[in-house]
Amino acid sequence: MIAGPTPAIYVLREEPRVIPQIGCCRLGRLELPISGKPEIGWRGLRPRTRMTDWDRNTLMLRKEQNDLLTQTGPGTPMGQLFRSYWLPALLVEELPENDCPPVRVKILSERLLAFRDSNGKHGLIDEFCAHRGVSLWFGRNEEGGLRCAYHGWKYDVTGQCVDVPSEPRASGYCQKIKLKSYPLVKRGPVLWAYMGPPQQPPPLPEWEFATVPPEQTFLSKRLQECNWLQAMEGGIDSSHVSFLHRGDLSSDPLFKGAKGNEYNLSDMQPYFEVVEQPGGLYIGARRNAENGNYYWRITPWVMPCFTMIPPRGDHPVHGHFWIPIDDENCWAWSYDFHPVRALTRREVDAMRDGAGVHCKYVPGSYRPLANKDNDYLIDRAAQKAGKTFSGVAGFAIQDASLQESMGPVCDRSKENLVSTDNGIIMARHRLMRAAKALVEKGVTPPGVDPAHHRVRSASVVLPADQAFKDAAKEALTSRPGVAQTTV
Ligand code: FES
Ligand SMILES: [Fe+2]
Repeated sequence: MIAGPTPAIYVLREEPRVIPQIGCCRLGRLELPISGKPEIGWRGLRPRTRMTDWDRNTLMLRKEQNDLLTQTGPGTPMGQLFRSYWLPALLVEELPENDCPPVRVKILSERLLAFRDSNGKHGLIDEFCAHRGVSLWFGRNEEGGLRCAYHGWKYDVTGQCVDVPSEPRASGYCQKIKLKSYPLVKRGPVLWAYMGPPQQPPPLPEWEFATVPPEQTFLSKRLQECNWLQAMEGGIDSSHVSFLHRGDLSSDPLFKGAKGNEYNLSDMQPYFEVVEQPGGLYIGARRNAENGNYYWRITPWVMPCFTMIPPRGDHPVHGHFWIPIDDENCWAWSYDFHPVRALTRREVDAMRDGAGVHCKYVPGSYRPLANKDNDYLIDRAAQKAGKTFSGVAGFAIQDASLQESMGPVCDRSKENLVSTDNGIIMARHRLMRAAKALVEKGVTPPGVDPAHHRVRSASVVLPADQAFKDAAKEALTSRPGVAQTTV
């Protein structure tokens, strides 16, 4: 299902209020086919044809709203929201064999440790020993558990203490000791963690990149040194592609050659149409094509942080998750998959070499080789010559460099939003609305139901009189064995 008469919120300054919506919401140039009268006190967007200073002011986020969206530690509303989902926690390759070394995992500001025991079971437990708090990362992974290197207390994958060598076994002391732990399960190339209430884990995720055969998918992750939200907002802001990434569209092996690139590069004023869908949004960017037709690039955003970039030609389809490490760092997860064929050797080699949405690393880490400490290896000559727009090479680092340059947590009270930011505006409000409903009423947020994962991006040329939400409806749903819709 795509759009329906679902409620939408556009109110940003005062208490959010729900207004009825019919059909799509064209915030693009503020053509708002909204029915019903705004409630008294409604101070959100008004159905006008231009964004005014008044609109811009009301779209700005207050500090407390920014805090709400960006803070995901234990006890925060957005932290509670994130803890409703299965989240990517590690690459499967990080725990390659039974009894391999444990891996530190910081996620949602919690310091945890992942390990794989002698029987192949995965565990995600508190990093610190219950005895006197040393890091279990130094521990010995042996005989079905992780043994602390200090005094030998041992834990299984559920965090249950199974041995306290200094105490008589008959005392049963160790049974009273249990570390915090979360389920960690493999699906596709990812180990997924669920950090919410233990009595109600949701069904496992069904993202298409994780359910196609292994030879059709590739996944990487990189450290991004800023808050998750500003990174994610880059992923749903497809207007920057015509600027920041323009040099790479025609040179990157995982992007070049697609007809759609020409539309991207020739129309710098995309019109945005944002449509609510059950798990989040479809964000359509419309550019001019031949004969009065339009080229649409349609990006699904599924709560809280999943996006899929619209495809280009027969290249694999890529996309991201942005998972908070803490409030000032996140993991940018980047996948590439093809719905109906194996990735070629050449494609995989390019991905491993940092092409497309992937990157090269500081050896032995997931930190990009080009990072803020070396100014992302900016090449001013390449910038001047127009080889790259910003002088930074590669899609991933182009994004990271600018998003990190905003500071660890961007101050959204100082923004000046324009119509191409509509997807971002609506995503923020879906997130705030869902967090409020979850915290106050226990409402399961969008994106938890695996049915919400079965979305696709699409790129398509449509006649001017066709709405993408109708004309591309099938293309926006994942269908096993059916190729992506692409230009
Ligand atoms: S601190 Fe771990 S066993 Fe003592
Ligand atoms: Fe980008």
